[in-house]
Amino acid sequence: MRKLNVVMNGVTGRMGYRQHLVRSVLAINHQGGVTLSDGSRVRLEPILVGRNEVKLRELAEQHGIQRWTTDVDEVLRHTAERGVYFDAQVTSAREKSTLKAIEAGWDVYTEKPTAETLESALHLARVATEAGVRHGVVHDKLYLPGLIKLKRLIDGGFFGRVLSIRGEFGYWVFEGDWQPAQRPSWNYRAEDGGGITTDMFCHWSYVLEYLFGPSKAVTARAVTHIPTRFDEQGTPYEATADDAAYGIFELADGVIAQLNSSWVVRVFRDELVEFQVDGTEGSAVAGLRRCRIQHRAATPKPVWNPDLPVTERFRDQWQEVPDNADLDNGFKAQWEDYIRHVVEDTPHPYDFLSGARGVQLAELGLRSSEEGRRIEVPEVTL
Ligand SMILES: NC(=O)c1ccc[n+]([C@@H]2O[C@H](COP(=O)([O-])OP(=O)(O)OC[C@H]3O[C@@H](n4cnc5c(N)ncnc54)[C@H](O)[C@@H]3O)[C@@H](O)[C@H]2O)c1
Repeated sequence: MRKLNVVMNGVTGRMGYRQHLVRSVLAINHQGGVTLSDGSRVRLEPILVGRNEVKLRELAEQHGIQRWTTDVDEVLRHTAERGVYFDAQVTSAREKSTLKAIEAGWDVYTEKPTAETLESALHLARVATEAGVRHGVVHDKLYLPGLIKLKRLIDGGFFGRVLSIRGEFGYWVFEGDWQPAQRPSWNYRAEDGGGITTDMFCHWSYVLEYLFGPSKAVTARAVTHIPTRFDEQGTPYEATADDAAYGIFELADGVIAQLNSSWVVRVFRDELVEFQVDGTEGSAVAGLRRCRIQHRAATPKPVWNPDLPVTERFRDQWQEVPDNADLDNGFKAQWEDYIRHVVEDTPHPYDFLSGARGVQLAELGLRSSEEGRRIEVPEVTL
């Protein structure tokens, strides 16, 4: 069976470990590898990279992985068979290591954002393209069962003319004193690449683009609602990055997307992210897994009357969209797509330029907030 080396940097982290190592690469090997178009399979050979020898050894032993190292330069330059370099380090460390991997001739797949600034993200995209390596960025939300069903509705013409999209993303992240925070503290420090706008607008960029079309303009307000948090050691620190971002994205043909992203909101929804799409022929509410619809012909006619108690159960008036397929973990599904792109040249549009558009939207969102104005989104090219 064909084998492909996969250098995995940042596997001790939240995303690197759970979603990429365990739920993707190891799960792929557990099922026998990535299936190619001719029915043959590719097995992934993970080589773990990190800064902490003790943690890496422990991880490797726990999962029966033979190869691990704290020396990224060594592994990139001296591994005889080049394969894929994957990066899930903190965002601020990504550019430097990814450039080294490209220079050494590795195909590159990374978490988002690809870099901290648009300039760096474009530089990465240019260097990778010129070097002729395959480059890909995690666009996991597009692989969520809820959004796959939403895409199916769009492709089937369910909505008629799409009018608007409204999305709610978020949950309460504890401050870290009374109860430990469930996100790393660097997320709340701008100087370490943190901030919810930087984090989430990269996702909104590709979600909107590949479902409804690219954003033409953005108006956003980024806010730090909680100014002091407590880090992994319980020490107070100043939150210099935004913990909520309220954004309006204008797409082509007058379609408006209004998306709230917040780590300071308590959930009164069915899922941690939900998008409502309203079209002339029907509406849908899609979450991580579920998607519900209401057709034009089945739309009730509520009448505004605050003097009367609610007479209808509005949620009961929606219909569930069935899975109709085996919808796997989204990170794993994208890994499989990317590996097929590397070994068989199948299309994978989620490349470093797509990643750079995400960084651009985050940058413009922050600028819109700082300057208090709507900003048009220019097209970026290599
Ligand atoms: N696709 C998604 O839905 C999603 C969700 C969360 C985070 N992310 C992205 O994944 C990346 C990692 O986020 P996380 O939440 O796993 O963070 P984390 O803090 O849990 O993990 C970060 C990893 O980077 C390493 N690291 C920390 N500081 C470093 C430094 N100075 N130099 C080199 N390595 C360092 C850590 O050892 C760890 O392995 C970020 O870029 C983030 O934007 C993506």
